[in-house]
Amino acid sequence: MRRPLVAGNWKMYKNAQQAGELARAIVAQVGQGRGAVDVVVCPPFTSLQAVGEALAGTGIALGAQNMHWENEGAFTGEVSPEMILTTGCTYVILGHSERRQYFAETDEQVNRKLKAALRAGLAPIVCVGETLEQREAGRIEDVVLGQVQAALQGLSEAELLKIALAYEPVWAIGTGRTATPAQAEEVHSLIRSCLRQHYGAGVADALRLQYGGSVKPENAAELFAQQNIDGGLIGGAALKADSFAAIVKAAC
Ligand code: 13P
Repeated sequence: MRRPLVAGNWKMYKNAQQAGELARAIVAQVGQGRGAVDVVVCPPFTSLQAVGEALAGTGIALGAQNMHWENEGAFTGEVSPEMILTTGCTYVILGHSERRQYFAETDEQVNRKLKAALRAGLAPIVCVGETLEQREAGRIEDVVLGQVQAALQGLSEAELLKIALAYEPVWAIGTGRTATPAQAEEVHSLIRSCLRQHYGAGVADALRLQYGGSVKPENAAELFAQQNIDGGLIGGAALKADSFAAIVKAAC
């Protein structure tokens, strides 16, 4: 059985003080009875320290939302794997569709970041997903599986086992238009078959596949009950302790 992974992606919300407050509220509400679920919160870089302090000793993990692939250098505005690691991060989100869409991040860069994250000992959450236009053109499989294979290129089995993949259809992010459990499960099942075909049953059966895109307390349980959905990557609903806690509970 795969252990569900529920991660909150706070995107560009909350200054350090607000983030610390939200983290403490999440600890208070999620702290008890989260059972066999791994919980992660991913605030902006500037709040990692404050949130890390609030989470210390609670079992809730800290993650970053992005990083560069080099450990240091003349890369103005960038943050390295080693830098996020020393704030207490154990996870990092890579290849989010907002990075791909607004910052022109490519599959090749996602692959470089993924290798760097693994070298640093971080647990990566790699995001994939099709746009509405691509879905309507019948290109879900080609786009999503293409992103998966490009991201995972050149990794060993031991490395693959440290990754989680998040399927986030772009049309469902921040729109309130969630994929139905059947739509989400269909793509998750395609991803798992692709993993089985290319990397074997060991990897395919172990790798956690999260769903993301307008997950709310009202739809979380049904999504997480699907055979190939192992938790979620939560945006808007992760910014309130009570809704995030309810989503974590739905994964228990
Ligand atoms: P929403 O939950 O706000 O749709 O965002 C999903 C997401 O992008 C998480 O990474």
